[in-house]
Amino acid sequence: MLNLIGPIAHGGEMTQPTKVGPRRILSALQGRGARVATKLHLTLLSTFYVARQTLSRNADAKARLGNKAKWTIGLLNERDWHESYHSSEPEAAQFQAEAQNPECPIRDPMITKYLSTASRTDIAIIDVGAGAITQVGYTHPGKKISITPVDPLADHYANVLRKRGVKLPFPTVKGDGETLLSQFSRASFDIAYARNSLDHTYDPIATIANMLELVRDDGVVLLRHYRDEAEGGEYEGLHQWNFDCKDDRFVIWNKDTHVLVDKVLGPNAKVSCSVHLARKGEWRDEILVMITKAA
Ligand SMILES: C[S@@+](CC[C@H](N)C(=O)[O-])C[C@H]1O[C@@H](n2cnc3c(N)ncnc32)[C@H](O)[C@@H]1O
Repeated sequence: MLNLIGPIAHGGEMTQPTKVGPRRILSALQGRGARVATKLHLTLLSTFYVARQTLSRNADAKARLGNKAKWTIGLLNERDWHESYHSSEPEAAQFQAEAQNPECPIRDPMITKYLSTASRTDIAIIDVGAGAITQVGYTHPGKKISITPVDPLADHYANVLRKRGVKLPFPTVKGDGETLLSQFSRASFDIAYARNSLDHTYDPIATIANMLELVRDDGVVLLRHYRDEAEGGEYEGLHQWNFDCKDDRFVIWNKDTHVLVDKVLGPNAKVSCSVHLARKGEWRDEILVMITKAA
């Protein structure tokens, strides 16, 4: 504090009054000016720094909010499509009948390959974005399989299937990929699986990171998705993310973002990917991804 006329209190002691002259006033003012200027400079700098941090955080938050808003609207279309399919398509009736058979074998060769070398007998699989009926299958020789199908539209799907009299061995439970860790314990599954679903989420990277947390140390995350669905679907509805495998690296991208998944997951994860080129009668190339925890 500038005090030109004293007396000044220092811890209760009184000092002598200071002699005041024009030179003293000028030098005191100059000292104060310098201190004020430095203070002002520091304040401006820290304000600028905080503003920059807040803006970039807000930009991320804004982007996430935008993704979620688009997703919430897209989910309504998704719901209507599945309702119409399960209520009226002849092919759906056959699918529903097969799905009620508890002997239905595991279908995806990515899963059966893992099972053929897995040491555990009891195998727990979480199917993220499973839809109304998990497509995983239920049995594999020598293994006791339990499936947890999860989907944000589970309640709606349950209503549709109830009307059709469908009773599943493993009904889909409600949940988002992005919030799996508030619903399930870490390291409680052998396989975290997703098929044609993570590119429908509002945050596929967060969902993949969650899936990796959910598997045991010797577990695996297995993903099967159509290549570049957002581009193919012209960014309509829930199709906001493209999945691809470029130079053997798993890439998630859209018009605003380009993410190398191994880079985001860091050294604790081992990510491998490959492309299954569409054969005659298959709709589109598929991107197959396997992620394990690094030793
Ligand atoms: C095209 S369906 C695929 C269903 C199933 N996996 C299959 O292969 O038939 C996509 C599913 O992803 C679900 N989904 C959308 N957003 C999700 C999210 N944030 N987390 C998990 N699943 C989501 C949808 O509700 C929908 O059931």
